[in-house]
Amino acid sequence: MTIRIDYSNMIGGAVGGIPETDWNGAQQTFERAYTGFAELRQSGKVGFADTVRDPRLRDQALSFAAQSKGRHTDVVILGIGGSALGPIALRTALRPSGWNMLSDARRGGFPRLHVLDNVDPETISALLERLELSRTLFIVTSKSGGTAETMSQFLIVHEMLKRASLPVDAHVVFVTDPEHGALRPLAVEQKIPALEIPASVGGRFSVLTPVGTLPAALIGIDVTRLLEGAADMAGRCTSQSLLENPAAVYAMLQWLADTRNGKSINVFMPYSDPLRDFADWFVQLWAESLGKHLPDGSSAGQTPLAALGATDQHSQVQLFMEGPTNKVVTFVTVDNRSTDMTIPHGFKHVTELGYLGGHSLGELIDIEQRATAGALAKRGRPNLTIHLEKVDEWHVGGLIMLLEMATAYAGQLYGIDAFNQPGVELGKQFAYALLGRPGADAARQEWDTLPPPDARWSV
Ligand code: PA5
Repeated sequence: MTIRIDYSNMIGGAVGGIPETDWNGAQQTFERAYTGFAELRQSGKVGFADTVRDPRLRDQALSFAAQSKGRHTDVVILGIGGSALGPIALRTALRPSGWNMLSDARRGGFPRLHVLDNVDPETISALLERLELSRTLFIVTSKSGGTAETMSQFLIVHEMLKRASLPVDAHVVFVTDPEHGALRPLAVEQKIPALEIPASVGGRFSVLTPVGTLPAALIGIDVTRLLEGAADMAGRCTSQSLLENPAAVYAMLQWLADTRNGKSINVFMPYSDPLRDFADWFVQLWAESLGKHLPDGSSAGQTPLAALGATDQHSQVQLFMEGPTNKVVTFVTVDNRSTDMTIPHGFKHVTELGYLGGHSLGELIDIEQRATAGALAKRGRPNLTIHLEKVDEWHVGGLIMLLEMATAYAGQLYGIDAFNQPGVELGKQFAYALLGRPGADAARQEWDTLPPPDARWSV
């Protein structure tokens, strides 16, 4: 069982990487970042790396799933952002391809899993129309317990259940903060079961709490192994030695590449369809955590960009090879894929086809990754490769923890708070003002100072 980062293509001028002298001095810089994050952990303010070892939290998800077994054909997550992207990534990585389209038998009796992650009426009405409500469980996931999109989804579902004379407490479960937010009192009042997102774990760091573990357990993912893999990685990433700590290495490479070498874009490119939605989860984690104002008013953060190998070799790779030299590519590869297919021999006389016979698809996708990484390095475009031995619960848990801890260390290196998101507040306040939420008067006044649309600038 291994997760390994090969960062040879990140060091040295020949690959457009970090000068070896800078890298040799990085341990000292890491020490400050290490201490900063260790203090946050010890103070109990930031808990994501430690709650994966909490059996009480794990058992909340496992026992709810055990009680629900066989009762639902469909599970629907009402939530957005950090409440949604993690569960989507887990389903795609750890359940057979096309899970929601498989027959009940092929799903082993486990339910389909739908995740709303938006409030577009096109999608929500289409999904709600095709569900058999009496066999559906709705998980309302919100750390704050007040997100407008999630609360709107809940109001719609609540009304539908009432109209269908179905008991809300049997078809809805909340996953929310242990104390704060509107969902806690509502859970008591409506007798709706409620699982916990620990106070010390924020939305985009919450996939290994019941935010992800409840839906995962409900669809048959081995949550215990997922958490074990994460805990093992949390141990590795607690090393004070930079070179032995994969999260520290990842954070340090990206931070140096960004701040010293102008690599302001981090492309996250798995060569694995099961990991394609993992890229979206990573994008939120890296963007919302690191895109911040610095105390002097300037801006920090590296823009994450999702890509998929080999697909994007026929789309974005041209830009990565010859466009602005502002990118680092993070490849993710899988050493042992769960299945493979041999490419048959055929049309041996046709140059474009003949050489392929006898190779396998797994070999092709792996070679394409190595070829792309090598081509980028050859052209002075730095990149690194995260190798997963396989895509299973243990390795996916480990990869999640590696990237979460890297984000925490990167926050320390940039000198910003990786765990808040003040930049989304003004837009939220404006939306509240426009929707007439009580208490949004100041936002309404600020909104009214905006110049109205000017007909001259419309076409
Ligand atoms: O990472 C975050 O904190 C955010 O992206 C949240 O996950 C998102 O805004 C949803 O918030 P909540 O879980 O409070 O409904």
